[in-house]
Amino acid sequence: MSEMSSTVRGITILGSTGSIGLSTLDVVARHPERFEVIALTANSQVERLFEQCQSYRPKYAVMANPDAAEQLQSKLDASGSETEVLSGVEGLERVASLDEVDDVMAAIVGAAGLRPSIAAARAGKRILLANKEALVMAGDLFMAEVKAHDAVLLPIDSEHNAIFQCMPKNYATGLSEVGVAHILLTASGGPFIDRDIATLESVTPEEAVAHPNWSMGRKISVDSATMMNKGLEVIEACWLFGASAEQIQVVIHPQSVIHSMVQYIDGSVLAQLGNPDMRTPIAHALGYPQRIKSGVDHLNIFDIARFDFKEPDMQRFPCLRLAYEALTAGGTAPAILNAANELAVEAFLQGRLGFMEISTIVEKSLEQLAVSPVTDLGALLRVDAEARDVAKELIERRTK
Ligand SMILES: NC(=O)c1ccc[n+]([C@@H]2O[C@H](COP(=O)([O-])OP(=O)(O)OC[C@H]3O[C@@H](n4cnc5c(N)ncnc54)[C@H](OP(=O)(O)O)[C@@H]3O)[C@@H](O)[C@H]2O)c1
Repeated sequence: MSEMSSTVRGITILGSTGSIGLSTLDVVARHPERFEVIALTANSQVERLFEQCQSYRPKYAVMANPDAAEQLQSKLDASGSETEVLSGVEGLERVASLDEVDDVMAAIVGAAGLRPSIAAARAGKRILLANKEALVMAGDLFMAEVKAHDAVLLPIDSEHNAIFQCMPKNYATGLSEVGVAHILLTASGGPFIDRDIATLESVTPEEAVAHPNWSMGRKISVDSATMMNKGLEVIEACWLFGASAEQIQVVIHPQSVIHSMVQYIDGSVLAQLGNPDMRTPIAHALGYPQRIKSGVDHLNIFDIARFDFKEPDMQRFPCLRLAYEALTAGGTAPAILNAANELAVEAFLQGRLGFMEISTIVEKSLEQLAVSPVTDLGALLRVDAEARDVAKELIERRTK
């Protein structure tokens, strides 16, 4: 099929003002014949969402924050726009499940993305999942909703998108059944891979968000520096591909050109390569199963010349160890890990917590809270709230 498509797909972009949201709009704008932007959403960045509404004229704009929604409404009214403004998590759930929407880009950061992503699954949408925290918290529930409502889940995380591209089509029948031995999940190692461990305590937020290869939102940048991001991705990969923790090997690959690999029982290893630019996995998922242009330059392999690989050091990256432990513990443990990490990263970014204390807060939260099976979404959200309370108190006690 050519680049031109006869069917225009309606798209909702949850988190359109963030790093993934902006990259998604960049790709969408390259294919006006393919996509109609139905809804855009943000939390509090009124000016940016207003500008996006002027450019893309969506039917709906949602601000999670009600005060911000009021401000956006008055700005849009004054400009004569016909975009309808909604607010709160109910507004996000609504635009994730509208009839005229085919694709939902789930790019809200953190646990806030869970309810709208689940709404998209319940409405049987094609979900382009960037919001890994939703799957970490509620993998079992989320996957069950996807299955029950014939939704389609396409991974946006560059590693998971790479794995998806290297997997045989029928991988859902079981990895061993289709001859997959291992998933090799690559990681850049972040900005502190070679820094003296003794100096990690004094890392500043500015240093932590300065990722050597990727340009990303602040929370995921800190997660990359602690390697909690890789831990969350191991959990995400288990749910997406039906893998066990033992089937996933984290590989430090500082060049960030191989985005992950799949190792087969016959000795073959398939890899997906590309410049580190999120528009490639976004375009892959937006166009799937066709290939569409993303605006990303072709990879020049002569410029790269060499690939390095090494095993991760759990002493340098205790968050990665904690994520593996939460995965093994199962039940609500990954949700506790995620909630405590979100609070600790926020406190670190505000200068209230040291870099190496992020893992301490997560570890202590996991120790203090009993792990139970995940029964339903309501119970899970209560665990998330409880874990936030515990982590908050731990942070306050340390900073007094
Ligand atoms: N950035 C990357 O390269 C990358 C790569 C792989 C995966 N991911 C994943 O993609 C997701 C988004 O990451 P990002 O880097 O794009 O984050 P980001 O730049 O911080 O953007 C987050 C988006 O979520 C919105 N948001 C924040 N809190 C919200 C809330 N409580 N309710 C509703 N919306 C809220 C923000 O709105 P405001 O702008 O109004 O605050 C913004 O639109 C994360 O789960 C991340 O792990 C990101």
